[in-house]
Amino acid sequence: MQQLIRGRVLDFHADPQDTADNHRFWEDGAILVDDGRIVAVGDHAELTRDGLEEIDHRPHLILAGFIDPHIHFPQLQVIASWGAQLLDWLNTYTFPAEAEFADPAHATRMAGLFLDQLTAHGTTTAVAFCSSHKASAEALFAAAHDRDMAMIAGKVMMDRNAPAAVLDTPQQGYDDSAALIQAWHGKGRQRYAITPRFAITSSPEQMEAVGALARAHPDCHVQTHLSENVDEIEYTLSLYPKARDYLDIYEGYGLLSDKLLLGHSIHLESREIARMAESGSHAVFCPTSNLFLGSGLFDADGLRAAGIVSGIATDVGGGTSWSMLQTLAEGYKILQMRGQKLHPLAAFHWATRGNALTLGMEAEIGTLAPGSAADLVVLDARATPAMALRMEKAETLAQELFILQIMGDDRAVAQTYVAGRPQKTG
Ligand code: GUN
Ligand code: ZN
Repeated sequence: MQQLIRGRVLDFHADPQDTADNHRFWEDGAILVDDGRIVAVGDHAELTRDGLEEIDHRPHLILAGFIDPHIHFPQLQVIASWGAQLLDWLNTYTFPAEAEFADPAHATRMAGLFLDQLTAHGTTTAVAFCSSHKASAEALFAAAHDRDMAMIAGKVMMDRNAPAAVLDTPQQGYDDSAALIQAWHGKGRQRYAITPRFAITSSPEQMEAVGALARAHPDCHVQTHLSENVDEIEYTLSLYPKARDYLDIYEGYGLLSDKLLLGHSIHLESREIARMAESGSHAVFCPTSNLFLGSGLFDADGLRAAGIVSGIATDVGGGTSWSMLQTLAEGYKILQMRGQKLHPLAAFHWATRGNALTLGMEAEIGTLAPGSAADLVVLDARATPAMALRMEKAETLAQELFILQIMGDDRAVAQTYVAGRPQKTG
């Protein structure tokens, strides 16, 4: 059945950092949706007709739903754990929490709550690390499939340097990943990401298995971590003494491609930057996490100038907010520290179409182009008294977006649609 979703509609068709002709905006706009897909977008007056079901979100903004390209499903109870940098934080808080996901009942309960949090914050697609247990990925895919929500996820592969309760083996990791790909990759809107946690927790034998999986399934994403923390880098290089640099480990197992998502990518050598650019591999900026874990300041402009297409993500539970708005706010501040600027139009492009481009999924998500999934976020720039007060002085769309970017969180998300279905009720 067709429905018309009315509001102040904003859609990006190019990167505001590349060209002035980058978005369209309809002050009284509408999106015509049929069976979970966008049929048309434009002026309300041109799309309305007698008998059509209409939902009116004016004066709120409607955009393509946010995409979070790096988040950890089993860390939803790890967020806000005090006092540690990466390696201690993993050992003290993260691995014990992930061990609980061996229990399918726990994983199933958490999967529903995980998707609830994403949509409450306006995020309609995520790229998620699961725990090392096959059951954790099964639970997440099953829950996302039930909601017709596009999820890219994988069970973490990790066979050393962590407690036994979160370890697999090279063979088990391979077999479980292959079985999950068979069961879920391409089922409805689900996609599989081959997920070696990082080089510290994967032996050379396991990295061989990762390479074999990536060769056998070239249309699957591969996600991992790269150069987040200086102690991590030193430890990593001690474990792979023949590697020229951190990236060279992943390169040696044939993982560099435009399907590769490298979380953090903060402390990079010039050779690593050049190879990422040549191979089309992607960096993923995780601002709230990088500040919270004291990891470092991402060089967005430097990587972009080198030709790398980067994503921006929450990295919950190293990250401190599920909100892509808060993520853009902290991203803005990190770039300020580097003398770089994140314009609000570029910011909202990044969290939608930009992240879709990073995933190679811009035909499906990230824009309001006809044929795309009707995954939408409805944003209220007057959601709190402080925002409403600030909005009294806003004169332009860019100013309104910047208020949302800096002051907004889940309170500013008036509604989220996944495949045309509203996720907030009551
Ligand atoms: N590096 C390896 N595992 C993790 C993780 O779970 N979170 C973050 N932030 N970095 C990692
Ligand atoms: Zn991460």
